[in-house]
Amino acid sequence: MSLAPVSAQGEKASWKQRLKAFFVERLGLEAVQSLAAKKTVPLHRCTPFYFLGGMALFLFLVQIVSGILLALYYKPSPDQAFESVRAIMTEVEFGWLIRSAHSWSANLLIGILFLHLLTTYMMRAYRRPREITWITGVLLLALFMAFGFSGYLLPWNQLAFFATRVGTAIVGVVPGIGHSLLLLARGGEEVTGDTLARFYAIHVVVLPLVTFVVLGIHLYLVQKHGMSIPERELARYGGPERVPSMPFVPHFLLRDIVGWYLALALLAALAALFPWELGEKADPFGAAPEGIKPEWYFLFMYQTLKLLPPYIAGFEGEVLGVLFFGLCGLVVLVVPFLDRGPRSRAVLNGLAAVAVAFFVVMTAWAFFPNPEQKVACIMLGTLLSFVSLTLLVPFADQRTPAYRLLIGLLGLLGLIFVGAAVWELIA
Ligand code: HEM
Repeated sequence: MSLAPVSAQGEKASWKQRLKAFFVERLGLEAVQSLAAKKTVPLHRCTPFYFLGGMALFLFLVQIVSGILLALYYKPSPDQAFESVRAIMTEVEFGWLIRSAHSWSANLLIGILFLHLLTTYMMRAYRRPREITWITGVLLLALFMAFGFSGYLLPWNQLAFFATRVGTAIVGVVPGIGHSLLLLARGGEEVTGDTLARFYAIHVVVLPLVTFVVLGIHLYLVQKHGMSIPERELARYGGPERVPSMPFVPHFLLRDIVGWYLALALLAALAALFPWELGEKADPFGAAPEGIKPEWYFLFMYQTLKLLPPYIAGFEGEVLGVLFFGLCGLVVLVVPFLDRGPRSRAVLNGLAAVAVAFFVVMTAWAFFPNPEQKVACIMLGTLLSFVSLTLLVPFADQRTPAYRLLIGLLGLLGLIFVGAAVWELIA
């Protein structure tokens, strides 16, 4: 497009039109313009799930902005890290709000990513040709968990120091390469100032760079393939061309922005009403404090490893636990290739429901200290597993015998859970 000062009708182009034409010509924005004009979003019963990816993107932007502001004042050395964070909380203007927003937003982001994973799984949005969209998504979840793990140590407080010691020791359990991984993560045998320097470099350089690349591929693929439509909705409307849709710009984008606004409102309320705690400065030579816990999204693994007996069939319980979680991660990564028809889908759906229940029960188990609360959380987990399964059922093509067997088994498991909970309450 040329930079025409006079329009086709002979009117003089306004300065806005000329500025737009200037950038369109120089940056080659025609492709973006035509994508924006063509992009539509299907409207059906699962459309609200499409908001989750956009909300995650928004929270990621909050992380970048608040992280850069924090980096202006943070000092990554064991002598100064804690004091610099204390100064951010007490002396820097609005520093407490920025730090609280960064920490809360990280947690909300991971929560939304779990939901995004679950809903894209339920819609089977990983189907051909979206396998790589799914794989890059799982990698993004792992990257954000790594952001959380590396960021946790940075304030150099007691809880973070000892939780990092436990967390990195778990990495050391991996057979064969465990010790090398531990040395790589800690920068030595122990958690020291070297570990802090490493975690800082990983948190602010390595992870952002890798994330930009993976996220770039993920978002490119979402644009390339467009939004997928669940099979049930396709069947309901009788074909993709008959499903109603809405232009992305401006109609769906405006709705997306409402989602971002809600996320921002929740974030502002959490950050202002519950400022992130700092605790006490780390004392590497002191005793480990009571109740060391990782962030909530690691609790299910932490609690499972704690409950496992030292030896199972001659193998170290912890080693088996770590291998088990590694295998689970791998299964999630290759889900698009495991779903090969109604039978395998039934098994996958059953496993997904058990995984949701397991995650909730183990997280709540670690979260609540006293037995009555543990009982309540087991009941909640059982309920949730049923809810997640009932949500998954409508998305399965056929109720195969394998599927019915799995539902039956899950029902039995639920009864055992509820029975155990009632027994605990009356005993
Ligand atoms: C920072 C992390 C992530 C960001 C910013 C992100 C962003 C997005 C966005 C904006 C969309 C389009 C709207 C939507 O369907 O929600 C999308 C779609 C998708 N995402 Fe993500 N995502 C992330 C992580 C994940 C994770 C953890 C998974 C699961 C493994 C995943 C799997 C998918 C799939 C399969 C689609 C295609 C949905 C469809 O076509 O219906 N993403 N993502």
